[in-house]
Amino acid sequence: MKLCVALDNDTLEENIALASELRNYDIWLKIGFRAYIRDGKELILSLKKINPNFKIFLDLKLYDIPNTMADAAYEIALLGVDMFNVHASAGKLAMKTVMERIKNIPNRPLVLAVTALTSFDNSSFEYIYNDDIDRKAVLFAKDTYEAGLDGVVCSVFESLDIKQNTSSDFITLTPGIRPFGEDAGDQQRVADINSAKANNVDFIVVGRPIYKAQKPNEITLKILNAI
Ligand code: C5P
Repeated sequence: MKLCVALDNDTLEENIALASELRNYDIWLKIGFRAYIRDGKELILSLKKINPNFKIFLDLKLYDIPNTMADAAYEIALLGVDMFNVHASAGKLAMKTVMERIKNIPNRPLVLAVTALTSFDNSSFEYIYNDDIDRKAVLFAKDTYEAGLDGVVCSVFESLDIKQNTSSDFITLTPGIRPFGEDAGDQQRVADINSAKANNVDFIVVGRPIYKAQKPNEITLKILNAI
């Protein structure tokens, strides 16, 4: 299991300081909307300068018509990031078109699809998708697998079921992790490290429990030891 730290701080300086503090660890760093919109590809270059072995996950969750998604995916693949994501609800054709467009790029990034956001509870999910969250997450995962992507973003609770319905190699990446039972914030389907392990999760994403900690370095080390 790999740790992916969300760089969701308020400023570029704080994100750079966090990455510098964690530079000796074998971790992934997640760049989300806010940081990418503000700091762009310079941020990716700065992080790779701090530690060339940092792996970068660009979490922009593409959702658009197939051609527009594929164009964006192509540009993302040229940025030199190691992983990015799309929404599975954009449809199988959109996902296939994305994979087709980037397939010949050397060392193409891993591509994941978001099944259900971990901030949804069952009733808010049903309101939009008219289906049960666990059932639909597995259906989205099957579409993602059939479209040739590398894995999905899901909650810990769906990871095993998704692997059973696709392949054990199919990557599951799970946000909403509260490593040692910390405050959930706006997340609904949270889980700790032990349950992520028990559910064969490949990547855990941890944001606030690390970047809001008094000593991010210490909690990161504790998480790495636990996984
Ligand atoms: O602070 P916390 O650990 O809740 O951060 C989780 C991170 O994972 C945030 O950056 C959020 O945008 C992201 N994420 C999520 N649920 C998804 C996909 C991404 O929480 N389904």
